[in-house]
Amino acid sequence: MAFSHEKIETNVLLLIVLTLLTVAVGGLVEIVPLYFQKSTTEPVQGLKPYNALQLAGRDIYIREGCYNCHSQMIRPMRAETLRYGPYSVAGEFVWDHPFQWGSKRTGPDLARVGGRYNDEWHRVHLINPRDLVPESNMPGYPWLAKAQVSGTTIQANMRALSRVGVPYSAEDIEQAAQAVKGKTEMEALIAYLQGLGTAIK
Ligand code: HEC
Repeated sequence: MAFSHEKIETNVLLLIVLTLLTVAVGGLVEIVPLYFQKSTTEPVQGLKPYNALQLAGRDIYIREGCYNCHSQMIRPMRAETLRYGPYSVAGEFVWDHPFQWGSKRTGPDLARVGGRYNDEWHRVHLINPRDLVPESNMPGYPWLAKAQVSGTTIQANMRALSRVGVPYSAEDIEQAAQAVKGKTEMEALIAYLQGLGTAIK
C-alpha cells in the first residue's frame, strides 16, 4: 500500500493519532535534553538558597498573588535587558519550587528588583503604591506590616524543600524559627524582594 496523504487527511481518527504522535515526539526532543544539561540543572555560581526570612516572604508573595501582575523572568532581548538588566538564566531558579517566571506583566518584571530600591521605599510602596508612583494601579498591602511570620510553618516549608534538593542543613532548619521570630510579613516580603536576581552580578 503506497503512502497516501489523502488517506490521512480523510480519516479523522488517523489524523488525530498521527498529529498527537508528531507533537509528542517534537515535544520530547525539546524537553528531555534539558533534564541532562548542566546549564539548566545546576545552580549558577554564587546562588544561595533563600534564608528563612526570604523564604517566608516568598510564601507571602505567592499567597498575595503578586505573580498575577509581575513576572520574574527577563527575556534575552535588547529591550528587556536595557530595562531590567542581564537576562535570566535557568541556573538562577533551580531551587525555586514553584518558580515564579510567569508571563503576565501588568507591573514590571521583578527578576532583578533586588537592590534597586531601599527597604524603606518598598515599605512605603507596599502600604500604598500611589504614595510613590501616583499613576500606579497596584493594590496596597498595609496589613502585611501588622501580621507576624510563623516560625513553625517556615521550618516545615524548609524541610519539604530540602527533600526536593534545596541544600538546607538540619542546622538551617533548626535556626529558622529563631530567624523569623518577631518579624512582620512586610519585613519578610521585603527581604525576599531585595534578594531577587542578585546571584548574578
Ligand atoms: C494589579 C496588579 C499588581 C499586583 C497584584 C501587584 N503589583 Fe506590583 N506593580 C504593579 C504595577 C502596575 C507597578 C508599576 C507602578 C508602581 O511602581 O507602583 C508595580 C510595581 C511594583 C514594584 C516596583 C518595581 C520596579 O521595578 O519599579 C514592586 C517591587 C512590586 N510592584 C511588588 C509587588 C508585590 C510584592 C506584590 C504582591 C504583594 C505586587 N507587586 C502586586 C502592579 C501590581
